[in-house]
Amino acid sequence: MGRGKRKYSCMDAGADEWSSRLGFILASIGSAVGIGNIWRFSTIVGQNGGGAYLVPYLCAVFLVGLPMMILEMQTGHRLRAQVVQAFHRARSPLRHAGWIVCILVTGIIGYYLVVTGWTLAYVVFSLSGTRELFPAFTASFAPIISFLASAAICGAVISFGVRKGIERITTFLVPAIFVILTGMVLIAVQLPGFAAGVSYFLTPDFSVLADPLIWGAAIGQVFFSLSVGYGALLTYGSYFRSGEEIPRSAAIVTAADLAVAFLAGLVIFPIVFSYGLEPAAGPELAFTTLPLAFALMPWGDVLAVVFFALLFFAAISSAISFLEVPTVTLATMARIPRRRAAALMTIVVSLVGLPAALSYSAYPLHIGGVPVLDLMDEIFGTFGLSVSGLLIAVTFSWFVGPEVIWGDISRLSLFMRIVVPLCRYVIPAALVIVIVFRVLSWFLPAG
Ligand code: PHE
Repeated sequence: MGRGKRKYSCMDAGADEWSSRLGFILASIGSAVGIGNIWRFSTIVGQNGGGAYLVPYLCAVFLVGLPMMILEMQTGHRLRAQVVQAFHRARSPLRHAGWIVCILVTGIIGYYLVVTGWTLAYVVFSLSGTRELFPAFTASFAPIISFLASAAICGAVISFGVRKGIERITTFLVPAIFVILTGMVLIAVQLPGFAAGVSYFLTPDFSVLADPLIWGAAIGQVFFSLSVGYGALLTYGSYFRSGEEIPRSAAIVTAADLAVAFLAGLVIFPIVFSYGLEPAAGPELAFTTLPLAFALMPWGDVLAVVFFALLFFAAISSAISFLEVPTVTLATMARIPRRRAAALMTIVVSLVGLPAALSYSAYPLHIGGVPVLDLMDEIFGTFGLSVSGLLIAVTFSWFVGPEVIWGDISRLSLFMRIVVPLCRYVIPAALVIVIVFRVLSWFLPAG
């Protein structure tokens, strides 16, 4: 512990912390609930055996996702350190691993903010009553402007600090997400295609369970959806001073994340089926298919505004947690004020994300025929996430004494006695398998 010559005093970047446990939980839900929940989850479920996909998904949530979340929050809280400091405290040379995590996160924010920008642009379009179709949108320069605007919003929130910036905004955004989603479920239940939508979403096809790739994909989706593996919740945990009941707080965050994913499916598919549309994947579903349905629905204009506001709220609160990781790291390591670090990091992520923003704009930047955004998702979002999750899981369950992270081991609850070995053995093993499969998939012909 702290063997390196350099000692970083805890939270040099201005001793800022959550005002309460509720503030911590809401901010963490804000991080977890993101674009991943709203369209990625439901389309993946629909395409991968409906309800049967829930078996690997829920196994991954409880065996790797939730334990990893507890490990991250607990590590941040106990070490009171941002990512690089925390790795440094484990073993001085391991701080390089901390930097790798920061670099991977910076790569992810770059393209995540591009998609956040799309949701912002669609809020603006739907407010002004414009029916902008995705191909027309991505043939303009609007994606660049909305990307830069999203980056600026995140940077501004972060520069206000943990309590006055992040906590204040997530205390508004997270309840708003739940209110909007519940309202939309109430509307969806009354649609003629509700039963068809739900059956597409949830009818189990158990044959998929024999496919190991489904299990690997489920682990990846769980990590992404719960915001674990990037150090975001480690950073948030470091602002939670009293730290009481971290396992329970993590369970609440996980339950909220699952709830949003399910509710979103219960909204999206009934709408798609009621209007005879195709349940397509990803961006097309949210930005092309659903607007077609809104155009046909009573109060469709209002629904469009509300739906895109939901997507934007979910995206921006996640993007904020991403940006916080390198910002507080920079502020602490370079000993500069948070505001300056936030401004610098906003510029950095704007540069990093620019090629991704361009790749879906009037200047379609592709590499080898693939849009840069998709490449960045593969490199940073899928592969990088597993690598950074592995670095975090291995470092804090193998290179730091268990009592440092968990306190008096002999007094752990039964639940935590299960969580600790899951972090030590199951999560690293699962991530190694995911990484190996991923690398193999690059070299083996598809299918
Ligand atoms: N959990 C977010 C989502 O579902 C993505 C995210 C991952 C955000 C990691 C922050 C940190 O979209």
